Amino acid sequence: MLRLGIIGCGGIAAAHGKAAQQIKDLRFVAACDVRRAAAADWAATYGAEAVYDDYREMLKAEALDGVLLATWPNQHREQIEVCLAAGIRNILCEKALTMTGAQAGEIWHLACRSGALVMEGFMYRHHPAIRRLEQMIFAGEIGRVDNIRAEFGWDNGPLEMDAPPALEKRNWRLRSDCGGGVPFDAACYAVNAAGHFARACPSRVYATGTMSKSLGVIMRLFGLIEYRNGVTGIISSSHGQQFSQELQVEGTRGHLFVPVAWTIAGEGTVEHRCAPTWGQVAATRHNVPATDSYAAQLRNFAAAARKEAAPLVPLVESVVNTHVIAALIESQRTRQPVDVELPPEIAAAYDATLQEAL
Ligand SMILES: NC(=O)c1ccc[n+]([C@@H]2O[C@H](COP(=O)([O-])OP(=O)(O)OC[C@H]3O[C@@H](n4cnc5c(N)ncnc54)[C@H](O)[C@@H]3O)[C@@H](O)[C@H]2O)c1
Repeated sequence: MLRLGIIGCGGIAAAHGKAAQQIKDLRFVAACDVRRAAAADWAATYGAEAVYDDYREMLKAEALDGVLLATWPNQHREQIEVCLAAGIRNILCEKALTMTGAQAGEIWHLACRSGALVMEGFMYRHHPAIRRLEQMIFAGEIGRVDNIRAEFGWDNGPLEMDAPPALEKRNWRLRSDCGGGVPFDAACYAVNAAGHFARACPSRVYATGTMSKSLGVIMRLFGLIEYRNGVTGIISSSHGQQFSQELQVEGTRGHLFVPVAWTIAGEGTVEHRCAPTWGQVAATRHNVPATDSYAAQLRNFAAAARKEAAPLVPLVESVVNTHVIAALIESQRTRQPVDVELPPEIAAAYDATLQEAL
């Protein structure tokens, strides 16, 4: 039985609590939140015995096999470092891993040195619709991949506010000090998918978008990512549009389209589109049964912790993607193309990971 602790018992923690209840060989034994009542509620709902409002105390008092971090992106780097120093050897960290490439690289070095498993929580990668997409692409069904288009947007209220609520009353998504805005919350999915299907190191990005002056966070981000193998990623993430989570991978012999890619509710769909002749497009739909992606993710995490499986989202990939997100933010700010400067050891480790079979 894998004994886990959770740090951060807010919105997404419920999905992890429900997921754990479906898995026999792991359970959350301890819950921590700076809002003690939130930790107590979560523990009562999902069956954890111990409640804490200081995660360092939790790490000292409990013999944990692993920790799930469900706190804000600005906290992940420090919390991962503290967990590793306390001897925790398995960490599932909600996206986004960290807020700069350098911070992500530090985590990677620490994890390599201690032999720890650190996995970024991109639950969508564990959904069978995305696994099906991978199989079709890597089996060559659409030929050579040329570009990936990935989008995550929804209407999150006005882009500017005359009188924004005080920071402590604001959702973290509208707080720059917590890592809010679309880059580390929503665009990160699109960057992750583009990188995963491009299968090469990124080299340069170009971005535009909107920084909300009153809120201090990027509310719209649109970007191009060039990869070293010539594939292009086209990402779009906006709080100024209706809900969209589209993913499309375009190849020389067809396109694969996922209408809802990141938080699939109910059955998943992958649409295979081919142009039999100029001016015509034919589509074949593949439906995939409804699946709890968070449970699938926890199963993979547990199997990786037991060294029975590789993590579906390798840490080095998350490090590379963090560099891309940081470059997109810089490009949006400067309105200039920005080179993605990966440390050589990170690029080499990522290339090695890409060579491994899925
Ligand atoms: N995978 C997904 O589907 C998904 C969806 C939403 C959010 N997320 C990610 O999950 C993370 C949390 O997002 P959320 O929407 O649940 O945020 P939230 O604000 O609802 O919850 C965060 C919780 O962390 C607690 N917290 C803050 N500092 C803490 C500390 N030092 N120690 C312990 N607890 C602390 C807060 O009190 C709060 O309860 C973010 O990284 C976000 O990107 C993932």
